[in-house]
Amino acid sequence: MATNIDKDGVVNCKLSHVTYSTLMIFLRKLQPITKLSARIMSGRSLSLSPPLPAAKRRKLDDDWLTPDDFKNGVFLAPMVRSGSLPTRLFALKHGATLVWGPEIVDKAILHSTRDVDPITGVISYNGVSRAIFSTHPVEKPFLIYQIGSSDPDLAVQAAKTVMQDVSGVDLNCGCPKPFSTHSGMGAALLTNPDLLCAILTALRKEMPPHITVTAKIRLLPSQEDTLKLVERIVNTGISALTVHCRTRNMREKDKAVIERLREIVDFVRGMGRGIAVVENGDCKDWEDAKRVRQTTGADSVMIARGAESNPSCFSPTPLVDVEKTFIPSYLHLSQYIRNHFSLTKYCVNQFTGKRVEVTKTESQCIRQALSKAKDFESLKELMGSRSGEEELRDIIKAIQENSPRKHRMILEPDSSTLTDTETAEDLSLSTPEGTQNPEPPGPGAPFLPNDIEKLAAMIPARDNTTPTPISARPQALTLT
Ligand SMILES: Cc1cc2nc3c(=O)[nH]c(=O)nc-3n(C[C@H](O)[C@H](O)[C@H](O)COP(=O)(O)O)c2cc1C
Repeated sequence: MATNIDKDGVVNCKLSHVTYSTLMIFLRKLQPITKLSARIMSGRSLSLSPPLPAAKRRKLDDDWLTPDDFKNGVFLAPMVRSGSLPTRLFALKHGATLVWGPEIVDKAILHSTRDVDPITGVISYNGVSRAIFSTHPVEKPFLIYQIGSSDPDLAVQAAKTVMQDVSGVDLNCGCPKPFSTHSGMGAALLTNPDLLCAILTALRKEMPPHITVTAKIRLLPSQEDTLKLVERIVNTGISALTVHCRTRNMREKDKAVIERLREIVDFVRGMGRGIAVVENGDCKDWEDAKRVRQTTGADSVMIARGAESNPSCFSPTPLVDVEKTFIPSYLHLSQYIRNHFSLTKYCVNQFTGKRVEVTKTESQCIRQALSKAKDFESLKELMGSRSGEEELRDIIKAIQENSPRKHRMILEPDSSTLTDTETAEDLSLSTPEGTQNPEPPGPGAPFLPNDIEKLAAMIPARDNTTPTPISARPQALTLT
């Protein structure tokens, strides 16, 4: 083992493979020095920053999602590549109520091995050469895992593989890409309702009740056929249905036909099961979500490309000047949680936002530096001095102190106008003057429906104040 202490007083250890394995066995037995051991096991440096304040101890089932958690929300859509872990964490920090992971085909996750990074708490499901899916315990109460499947048994096995790290599973019934449809998955399920419903039924039957089962579909060309399909899907016992308001043959550049959704929403309400209908398609951000809900009557809205270009779009005051206010933070966090550089770069290249202080020339320089970069090291100048650990701490703190599930867009029932509550909500989420990064709302912010206490009392052992169960807290960051 080679050990040195650098000029900042940080201990750096490099271990040979044999020493490493022996030490791992030894360290696991040494509970009292878990923090130090965790740092050594990861091969990372030991910093002296203070631990996070301990979260209240909660029972695991406090974090169960109910159909109501899918109402009055603004959600991050499933996005392959773009919906990776750092994007989801920032989306939650900036007000996304729930986040969907990218579609992962059932077979892909089945043979993965689950590893936990003892420093960051990041959980990776690793395939032979890469991580297939990564998550962090802090997002678990808000995380929906999306499955691509055309087989009920495989779908159940895939869901069981990840269920300890997620709150719900969603079936992708909308992807029109040939890689999905050629094997009967994604949008191919829309024309095979027997199989689609068999998968959802199997998931609902086999998964424990605290794991929600949901589906994301596209519109069928005929409204009548869409309603028939929706009726069958809702009867499988799902908790929420997302409708991407495009048909299978429509591309993203085609305008979403959100006008068709109101009839579907009314139809599902008429079924009386309390299932949320989530609109998806052409909603840009929080402000735009109001328009979409007013037009469609949907319970919630889900955003994909708006969040791909600015993951803070869930806030009433999204970040501006993203080149300076967001990209450095994103790079730091990605490096710290070991998000693959090429994936990070892909996501960062999508980020755009209103420019206020950053000039066009500055923006171009930053973009050029990004396009040339081959690794995080080559972006050091752009990233500045803030550390990824600080970014993660801030995100965890923001999520723990202000549960994303309370970031609600409340509309009066059967009203086409927004209420005062909603307006007040906007104000409480606004960025304080002179800052770019919106502070999360205070605990007294009026995010909840008036009868929330009554609702909460009906759910056993539910505590709305702290979202993250103790078992889900990142290990090294929270140990004292
Ligand atoms: C980069 C990207 C990746 C996507 N990956 C998925 C996916 O994994 N699963 C899925 O159901 N939809 C996926 N979609 C579709 C979106 O979830 C969403 O339905 C679509 O983009 C329409 O929403 P929007 O108008 O807000 O972009 C993806 C879209 C984009 C842009």
